[in-house]
Amino acid sequence: MGKPIVFIPSRIPNAEAVIRYLSDDADVDYRDVEELLGEEEFYQGLERADGLMAYSRNKIRATQLERAPKLKAVCNIAVGYDNLDLDALTARGIAATNTPDVLSETTADLAFGLLMSTARRIPEADHYVKSGQWHGWLPSLMLGKDVFGATLGIVGLGRIGQAIARRAAGFQMKVLYNNRTRISNEEQQGLTYVSLDELLQRSDYVLLQAPLTSETSGMIGARELSLMKKDAILINTARGGVVDERALIEALQEKRIAGAGLDVFEQEPLPQGHPFLSMPQVVAVPHIGSATVQTRSAMAMKAAANMAAVLRGERPENLLNP
Ligand code: DGY
Repeated sequence: MGKPIVFIPSRIPNAEAVIRYLSDDADVDYRDVEELLGEEEFYQGLERADGLMAYSRNKIRATQLERAPKLKAVCNIAVGYDNLDLDALTARGIAATNTPDVLSETTADLAFGLLMSTARRIPEADHYVKSGQWHGWLPSLMLGKDVFGATLGIVGLGRIGQAIARRAAGFQMKVLYNNRTRISNEEQQGLTYVSLDELLQRSDYVLLQAPLTSETSGMIGARELSLMKKDAILINTARGGVVDERALIEALQEKRIAGAGLDVFEQEPLPQGHPFLSMPQVVAVPHIGSATVQTRSAMAMKAAANMAAVLRGERPENLLNP
């Protein structure tokens, strides 16, 4: 009997090291392609695979699993795992894992960058300069909103949320948070727990970092947006589905909130003609929260370590199945 096959369906950073690491336990079917594989090619790989290294864009539901007779592990190269049907995987005895911790600080950097960019209109100002519209200093040119000393409300205070709060402390922000459970050392961390409604009412910046689950899906809708201050800014570095995007578009169009900084969307990529694309008060980036060379390399290696553990019959560090 040959070695198990690990299927890596698109290019990953650190691929050489990951393949070398896995080669004791598996033969690696690595597709060095920038884009996702076509559906048929993906299924052909999946049919032979004992393990799959997956991304958020690889939706692994019961239908896909019907075409994966040998599969024993799906190791996400991501902390979020809303792309996986955990019940279906568990029912078939397939291990599922994710990559927490290694991306927290990097994702917090992006979240804070997005907050700063939206507050201080950095992309708009950059375009203004480069398109030759700048004719000199003016007292009311490109006025933004203070970050220093403002109130930040973090919805979802996991590892990434706490890393964002540490950055906010450097800006002497007042940090409110709402989370499923209260954290034990909130005072030490300078955090104040409040209800979601109070957080929305009091925050100058509302930052979403809650995972997408059946409870959080659409949790920020028209009612919640109507509680926000008129000059408040919404930042979403969690998942697009946490927000009712239609309601957000309306709130922005009607100027009921001042702006939004978005790394994630209900539909990715954003379709042509999407209202966000023509809103100067929206800063949109393409789901790059964890996208640094170091962090994506570490995520790939962590996913490989989880994979190797399953193939060796050990318990992987980041097992998701109950
Ligand atoms: C994550 O790790 O969940 C990122 O959002 C990439 O999907």
